Amino acid sequence: RMPILEQCYNLMDFEAVARNTMKKTAWAYYSSGADDEITMRENHNAYHKIWFRPRILVDVENIDTSTTMLGTPCDMPFYVTATALGKLGNPEGEVILTRGAKKHNVIQMIPTLASCSFDEILDAAEDGQCQWLQLYVNKDRAVTERIVKHAEKRGCKGLFITVDAPQLGRREKDMRSKFSDVGSNVQDTSGDNVDRSQGAARAISSFIDPSLSWKDIPWFLSITKMPIILKGVQCVEDVIRAIESGVQGVVLSNHGGRQLDFARSGIEVLAEVMPVLRERGWQDRIEIYVDGGVRRATDIIKALCLGAKGVGIGRPFLYAMSAYGLPGVDRAMQLLKDEMEMNMRLIGASKISELNSTLVDTRGLSMH
Ligand code: FNR
Repeated sequence: RMPILEQCYNLMDFEAVARNTMKKTAWAYYSSGADDEITMRENHNAYHKIWFRPRILVDVENIDTSTTMLGTPCDMPFYVTATALGKLGNPEGEVILTRGAKKHNVIQMIPTLASCSFDEILDAAEDGQCQWLQLYVNKDRAVTERIVKHAEKRGCKGLFITVDAPQLGRREKDMRSKFSDVGSNVQDTSGDNVDRSQGAARAISSFIDPSLSWKDIPWFLSITKMPIILKGVQCVEDVIRAIESGVQGVVLSNHGGRQLDFARSGIEVLAEVMPVLRERGWQDRIEIYVDGGVRRATDIIKALCLGAKGVGIGRPFLYAMSAYGLPGVDRAMQLLKDEMEMNMRLIGASKISELNSTLVDTRGLSMH
């Protein structure tokens, strides 16, 4: 029997409900990670290596969780990250995430491979609601240029270029489920010769250009005024190169453990990156985001203490949407908000700008 929504007390609860209630193919696509799923497992576990050093006797009567990302004010330091194929989990698809994001004034990243059309997702947004575009770069650059220019014209506030997927990872759970229903928009984007025998992910990814390289960045900078953020950066050398290439941000991410197995968790990479940037005095030259395995407000707070501007959350909102629709997404966001307020109070920080590295003990992280 399906638990009522009020019985979900944290983000993990939505996953348990979704596992038992979703269609098997949809569960396989959403939940799978690459190969042995070691990276997927470590994404959340890595947060367990960081402990707090709370400060006492700070006035925490009023807690303000608002912040800005890429210049846009928002109520919470997380965003709904891009996850493909929303209609696998819920027939209404990504527009449910749009409505949930609106209610809580959080930002939504729209995936290239959404099940709803790009314009449907923009139309579902209300005035002033901030959305970003996640871009898979097409072998045909004219297609990519059209998508980017259209997004800018329609008011998207950030272009997140996915750089960790020159080839889609092997998600064996998904491959076994012999996926058949990808949704009309996705078929348009990827062309007709879709091979469905290898699971959802591989069926929809054949158009992605594996020759994409640093040489292409100036072109992206020339075709749009939107801030450009590289999604899927995994070491400090590439963060430095990103800064030098003139982009405005990076997402330290391993694609939710769906690409290279044994890629490190975003939070581990963040701990490697920030000291080097501070040493160079470069910490304000770029906005750093982290995603993968963020399930608790304490995870969010740890990332912010270590220097992230915000964090992306993927699967939990998919599971909430699949199990309960909009009320599920609404509750998941509300739970995070409540957790944020309580934990900031207990740590002794009344606003986001007070979160800093003296509030965490990172000696348990393997790098440091
Ligand atoms: C993703 N992710 C992803 N990323 C991207 O750049 N383009 C995409 O199309 C997708 N699609 C996608 C589908 C599904 C089902 C998942 C779970 C993930 C990766 C996503 O943006 C993000 O990096 C991770 O989801 C973050 O990890 P968590 O929060 O899911 O643990």
